[in-house]
Amino acid sequence: MKNTKEKFLNKYKLLDRRLNTDPDRNYEYLVNFSQTKNIPVHRWFYYQEGYSPDLVKNIFTEINLKSNARILDPFCGSGTSLVVAKELGYDSLGVEINPFSAFASEVKTRNYTTSEIKQIGEFANKDFSLTKKVKSLDIEFSLLGRLFTPGRLNKLLQIREQIDNLQNIRVKNICFFAWLSVLEKVSNYRRGGNGLKKRIRINKVDPVVEFKNRLKEIYNDLSHLSSIHHEPGIINDSSINLKKYDVGKFDVAIFSPPYANCFDPFEVYKIELWMGGFVRNYEELRNKRKTALSSNLNASIEKVFNLDNMPEILADIISYLRKNQLWDTRLPYMLNNYFIQMREVLQALFGKLEKNGYCAIVVGNSAYGTLPVPTDTILGLIGEDIGFRCKKIIVARTNETSSQQHLKIGNLKEYLRESIVLLRK
Ligand SMILES: C[S@@+](CC[C@H](N)C(=O)[O-])C[C@H]1O[C@@H](n2cnc3c(N)ncnc32)[C@H](O)[C@@H]1O
Repeated sequence: MKNTKEKFLNKYKLLDRRLNTDPDRNYEYLVNFSQTKNIPVHRWFYYQEGYSPDLVKNIFTEINLKSNARILDPFCGSGTSLVVAKELGYDSLGVEINPFSAFASEVKTRNYTTSEIKQIGEFANKDFSLTKKVKSLDIEFSLLGRLFTPGRLNKLLQIREQIDNLQNIRVKNICFFAWLSVLEKVSNYRRGGNGLKKRIRINKVDPVVEFKNRLKEIYNDLSHLSSIHHEPGIINDSSINLKKYDVGKFDVAIFSPPYANCFDPFEVYKIELWMGGFVRNYEELRNKRKTALSSNLNASIEKVFNLDNMPEILADIISYLRKNQLWDTRLPYMLNNYFIQMREVLQALFGKLEKNGYCAIVVGNSAYGTLPVPTDTILGLIGEDIGFRCKKIIVARTNETSSQQHLKIGNLKEYLRESIVLLRK
């Protein structure tokens, strides 16, 4: 066992040298969303898988991006790259599988007219006298009955009724987004780990106050945004299908794919997906989950191993994991599927990038059994096999784990890290 670990460590170190892997602590706090709480527009919704807008800006500086560049984010989530691209005057396109996240990206990046901004401000200051009792939602969502107190649900639904009556579609959409953005805060559940957890303390926040505060924040941010810029295109589809779209060439693809860590990107946003009508029944939700990247066990996992065109290190890892007892026997398949799909996405990106274009991938490694899987290195190697040059892998941070897990992982713990893989066409 010890010998096997030593062998992996030596191989990982060799690959680190080959791919020019080095830490850069300037990125330590930029690979996550926690820095965005006070940043206009980005602060409208806390997207826990997101990265910081400064990360996008730093990468643009690092690659010396030209002034008329086009930007692509094939996993655009809540739209961080697109909001930055728009702010800096770049044309951009985002692709995102989760319809709620795609909607968030859209409302954050539209050009609102002065009159629309005024209407948003007026709606935020409206006197919501919510006294009547409205009919509850007729949706399959099994958690609905426990999600809100009856009084809060009634208030939420009355606000929603008034949003539905708005005439201007952009104003309606952004007010609806503000409504969606406060649902978790006013509910009996909170996002935690890989899903929702019941709150221990009784939640006393008022839906009307939260909604109005959020809409006022949106109004203030929009009132201070300068001039009209390109509205990004947003495609609500899997980035595996990117090759089918005739969207022209791009100078940089900057993105963070789901990490291969078993987190289901649909599970954490299920309140918004159901309450927002983005999914109407369980079958629809299941189907959507299956089209997400195979980074978790709710996605579609083909139970066959296919290591053609895959780096040798992945074959070694999969062979090691197959011999070890893991908490789910599908995990080695999931990993194999994940890298096959990422190869397809990188291949499509190679076709969509201009000559000398860049691909910046922000990704975290995961661990199975007691073996860290260096997703950053493997993506760098797959990129090279496709025809990119791996310029460098910037190690932004090393993740903390419980001390028990640390002990088991031993010397390999430095591979539990988040990095930026910088590829050039
Ligand atoms: C790490 S998050 C990206 C966050 C984004 N950078 C931001 O700052 O908001 C990864 C995103 O990929 C999306 N995703 C998962 N599978 C996908 C697929 N096959 N195609 C496109 N998007 C996908 C998830 O829904 C999630 O929003």
